[in-house]
Formats: sequence, C-alpha cells, structure tokens
Amino acid sequence: MKIGIDKIGFATSDLYLDMVDLAKARHEDPNKYLIGIGQSKMAVIRPTQDVVTMAAAAAKKIICQEDKEKISYVIFATESGVDNSKGAAIYLANLLGLKQNIRTIEMKQACYGATAALQLAKGYVALNPESKVLVIGADNARYGIKTPGEPTQGGGAIAMIIGSDPKILELENETSAYAKNIMDFWRPLGHSMALVDGKYSSGVYLDFLKNVWDEQLKKTNYQLQDYGALLFHLPYTKMGLKGLRQILQDATVEDSTRLIREFEYARQFNREVGNLYTGSLYLSFLSLLVNSTSIKSGDRIGFFSYGSGAQAEFFTGILQPDYQKGLVGFDYWAMLNKRQSVSVTEYEDLFEKHVFDIENIELDYQTDKSAFLLSGIHDYKRKYLSR
Ligand code: CAA
Repeated sequence: MKIGIDKIGFATSDLYLDMVDLAKARHEDPNKYLIGIGQSKMAVIRPTQDVVTMAAAAAKKIICQEDKEKISYVIFATESGVDNSKGAAIYLANLLGLKQNIRTIEMKQACYGATAALQLAKGYVALNPESKVLVIGADNARYGIKTPGEPTQGGGAIAMIIGSDPKILELENETSAYAKNIMDFWRPLGHSMALVDGKYSSGVYLDFLKNVWDEQLKKTNYQLQDYGALLFHLPYTKMGLKGLRQILQDATVEDSTRLIREFEYARQFNREVGNLYTGSLYLSFLSLLVNSTSIKSGDRIGFFSYGSGAQAEFFTGILQPDYQKGLVGFDYWAMLNKRQSVSVTEYEDLFEKHVFDIENIELDYQTDKSAFLLSGIHDYKRKYLSR
C-alpha cells in the first residue's frame, strides 16, 4: 500500500515587509538580506492572526467533504503554541467543522515537529488505511526587533492530508534520524521571542545534515543521480543553499546543475514569506511543485528536516502521477502578489501588538479580512471567529 501526502495547502499573512526597506532601516546593505540571507520579503503577522487561524486558512484550501468524513486524526505541529496545556488542534478541528469522534493533538520539537507529525500519520494510516490524517505545520517566527535574527522572521501554515494512495507523494520507508541535546535556538517558558546562538545554529544545521545524509546513503545507497530534487528546512533560504552545496561537493556537473535548478524553484515561496519554522520544509516542497517546470512524476525527492535543540531527519518520497491535482488548483502566486506591503514602523507596531499573557482583551479585527480570526481573549480564553 502506498502512503503519503495526498494534498498540501498553505496560508500566510496578507501583509509583508520588503527586505530592502528593513535593510535600510537597520543600516545594512540590502544585498546582505537579499543575497547573504536569501530573503526578499517577510510575512508580517497581524495580532488578530495566530497559528490556529493560519492553519485553518491553509486547511480550508484543500479539505473537501470526503476528507472531512475520513479525517480521524489531526496532528498540529507548532513551536508557537497558544496555550501551555490545550492543543491548538482542538480549536482547528472546531473551526473546520470536523467530526468529533477523532483524535487531536499538538506536538513540538522546534522546526522538526511537522516531520514527526508526518511520520506518525504514516504509521497511523498503515494501521487504518481508510482513514486520513490532517497534519499541520504552523508558526509565527519571532526573534525580536533589531536582533540579528530579525531578517529571518516570517510566518504561516502548511496543511497536509496524509492517506493511502496519495495524489502527491508516496513516502518511502527508509529514513535517517539524529538527535543531540544542544542549545542553538530555544524559547524559554514565558518568552514570546526565540533566543538563538545564530552562527552556532547554522553550523550545527550543517553537521546534522552530514550525519543523516551519510546514514541514508549507507542505508539506501541512493546516489545523487537517484534524486530529482533535494529539499531543506529553510530558516532563511541561503541556509538551504549552504546545505545543498555541502552535499554537492563531489557531484558531477549534471547532478549539480539539476539539483541547484530544482532548489531554486523550491526556495521561491520561502524567499517571499520568511521562516515558517515547522512549515518551512513543506513550503519549499510546495514551491517546487508549483514552480518547477522540470520535476516529473516518478522523481525521488529528498527531504532534510531540522529542528533546533536538536533533531534532524532525512527521508524520501516518490512524486506521483496526479501530483498537480493534490494542489487543488490554488493560485499561490496570485495570493502572494495580492499581499499589502507595510512600512518598517507599521511592522514594528504590529509586532508589539501581539497578545500573549493577557487575561482580557478585545482585538480590533475590522481591517483583517481573513476567513479566520482571533477576536479577543476573555478570562484567558481565546475567542476565534470564522467568516
Ligand atoms: N552582500 C552579499 N552578502 C552579504 C553582504 C552583502 N553586502 N553582507 C553580508 N553578506 C553575507 C555574509 O557573508 C553571510 O554569508 P555567509 O553566511 O554565506 O557567510 C550572510 O550575508 C549573513 O551575514 P552575517 O553572518 O554577518 O549575518 P548576521 O551575523 O547578521 O546573522 C544569522 C545571520 C546568524 C543567520 C542570523 O540572521 C540569525 O541568527 N538567524 C536566526 C537563526 C537561524 O536561522 N539559524 C539557522 C539554523 S537553526 C534552524 O534552522 C532552526 C530555525 O528555523 C531557527
């Protein structure tokens, strides 16, 4: 039985900050952000949006009535959780109108969470072939104003339906994982922004990549020529390029040309949105599927997932003949191009207005035209609206 990604959807904010504007405001050369970091724009999340509302918007794009009947498990991966106890998946299931005789959980291991969710979903479908699982990777990447991490912020949500006979990608069984207790990036309880040892984290990312790549090579003997594309967790798109260059050190010109070409397709959406943490690797996958004119059914795709702390996994999948159908015809470029730009001052203002540890607040959501909204918090209970 084939098991894998049947559909994939993506949602982000309707607001963005141009990286040239941010560079000028921070007295940096714009090319540092555009080329050195590899980001063009950064999603700016409104205070009336959070991981739940963005996940609902992503999932709504792909879920049909049949999916609603078959989804019996919702796994919500995030490191931007909205409650220390209650899982975001329950809010989401309610907003989407899913049935109630299902399992809903939230899971966390930094940016690796959605990969853990995907592998858990695969095992679940193996035991329950008629069922589908809704997997979410949603985050609001916040490092803080005027910190080195600032140009690597962003946010949004990826929703994937995992099932048997998937339209998009069959997951292969052999995977290589690696875990080690390190402090490269973390967010202590009570903090709304991440703490990070930026240079160290970038180095560790590459060490973990080497580890799981070598391990996978030993296990499968898949060589570079066996891959149609290699995808990476993209905290900023230059990071993935560094990873790819490391893998391509001894590559033939043919392998190098093909894998760099596909990587360029695969980072287009990430360049526009910034870091999605849990969703970044899967946004890159979506970017490949939408933008590549050379990828084809039967191609093997390699995925490098990395979550600080740290956990990595390399796994593979085979692109399926109907993969375009799994995108449900949504025009992501139209969605991204329709976004409204904000000035640096407006971005800073919106950044500060996000609510975390607040007992009561009514949020002004009149300017937010999104389908799902956080309207306020009453007695520490979050109130969501759908339009
Ligand atoms: N033109 C072109 N390139 C330029 C340039 C210019 N004018 N000026 C600088 N650059 C280049 C630099 O040479 C450098 O390139 P290399 O990395 O290839 O050497 C790049 O731009 C960045 O410059 P700096 O290293 O000076 O940048 P910085 O010190 O301000 O910080 C950062 C960069 C460490 C990535 C910082 O943004 C950060 O801490 N980000 C958050 C942490 C992060 O994303 N870590 C990634 C691994 S951890 C992970 O993956 C999990 C996760 O999602 C967080």
